[in-house]
Amino acid sequence: MNVSIIGGTGYVGLITGLGLAIHGNNVICMDTDLRKIETLNNGELPIYEEGLAELLKEATDRNKIVFTNCLKTAVNKSELIMLAVGTPEGKNGETDLSHLVQALKLVANQIDSYRTIVIKSTAPVGTCEMARTIIKDHLKNRFTPFDVVSNPEFLREGNAVRDFLKPERIVIGVDVYASEVIMKELYQSFDVPIVLTDTRSSEMVKYACNAYLATRISFINEISEISEKVNADVHAILEGMKLDKRIGELYLNPGPGFGGPCLTKDLKSLISFAGKANAELPLLKAVLERNEVQISNIIDYVISELQDVRGKKIAVLGLSFKAGTNDTRNSPAVHLLEKLLEKLLDTKILIHVYDPVVKSIEEPLNSRVVFPKNIEDTLRNADCLIVMTEWPKFKELDLEKIYHLMRTPLIVDTRNIFPYRKVYSLGFRYKGIGIASKRFETIQSTLEKSIV
Ligand SMILES: NC(=O)c1ccc[n+]([C@@H]2O[C@H](COP(=O)([O-])OP(=O)(O)OC[C@H]3O[C@@H](n4cnc5c(N)ncnc54)[C@H](O)[C@@H]3O)[C@@H](O)[C@H]2O)c1
Repeated sequence: MNVSIIGGTGYVGLITGLGLAIHGNNVICMDTDLRKIETLNNGELPIYEEGLAELLKEATDRNKIVFTNCLKTAVNKSELIMLAVGTPEGKNGETDLSHLVQALKLVANQIDSYRTIVIKSTAPVGTCEMARTIIKDHLKNRFTPFDVVSNPEFLREGNAVRDFLKPERIVIGVDVYASEVIMKELYQSFDVPIVLTDTRSSEMVKYACNAYLATRISFINEISEISEKVNADVHAILEGMKLDKRIGELYLNPGPGFGGPCLTKDLKSLISFAGKANAELPLLKAVLERNEVQISNIIDYVISELQDVRGKKIAVLGLSFKAGTNDTRNSPAVHLLEKLLEKLLDTKILIHVYDPVVKSIEEPLNSRVVFPKNIEDTLRNADCLIVMTEWPKFKELDLEKIYHLMRTPLIVDTRNIFPYRKVYSLGFRYKGIGIASKRFETIQSTLEKSIV
């Protein structure tokens, strides 16, 4: 099938375009971002994601993909046009639909015969109906036929290529039979369950999934806080929970709270459009509130442990919102830096940051932190190490070496990547999430007994 992706160099657009190309479609990835188009036309990638370079090479070698900023070509040459433009957080948590509305108007203006318009961007329930009205109002010839379909995307950054090529399900929302046939043809080579429904239910599936995932994260963070206070170990609690098939193990990692480009903004959007439909959602509001507490708790701990922070050096490992991606949108690490610097404005605190793939962040933050070339320089003479992203290479660090590199042996491990018994027995002060400090006293007394 001939397919165009509008927003085709974005995270979702690019992976979708390449994935559909590998499945044999002729794909045009259209985007307004000339820099990313040029990068891709040079065979390079604008984002970091495992397996994506191979996908780009294969699709280009097989002549199955084109990157362009020409909307006319994209619309004229494709029977199916998929919109994957950004839908960021707008005022009061509402979704900012301006990119989508703009793209719909421009697409409508180019259509001269039947097209299926697919909304892949995450957008509030009712967006497909809104899209239909916008397209109708902007067609050159008001009798040109078209359909609007909802096809939300569920890929997880850090695992995005695998998730797109082998999704657990594909959700399609259609309001007429003709577009059902076209969408089934598009995904015929994907051997996975297809959930076929109306556009509104399809739009809602995406919000329900993200709200549920966010709830699990906030839930386990709350359990972690209780564990710390009642001297229990969240690792053991998780072992006991995850073997229950009704619960499972994914998205139950205690940590700095959820971040990234989707969960927070989708949850806020859901709360906002539900509010307009007279649904209050107290549970989901609490999920958001719980998430905000997480970073503040970490900062309060760091400040209280460092006591006098003037002139101290903090080393932060990890900037991306999770391992396997260079995406720092709404990253807990970025929030931590913002809040730390805001709180410690006049203290001449030094913050050194290392991430294996992210080498800078947006200003004004960028010039307020130092990016050493390697982990060793980051940790040298540090008074506190804060682990913010669970990159595998951080898990393999030599803790004894870190102990000797740091000026003050204090670790705040927001991803629980280090074995706390070992860390503690080396002499560090250590805080994980959900691990009570009383447990260290037990280790301490065991150590003392073994010395005696
Ligand atoms: N990133 C994820 O993990 C993820 C997962 C599932 C769903 N989503 C949803 O997918 C959508 C896209 O997210 P993303 O992370 O890929 O965003 P992104 O910012 O990486 O990409 C959006 C792209 O759209 C382009 N664009 C904007 N206006 C345009 C226009 N008028 N014409 C052509 N291109 C235009 C931008 O230049 C950009 O390249 C969002 O609705 C998001 O909520 C994202």
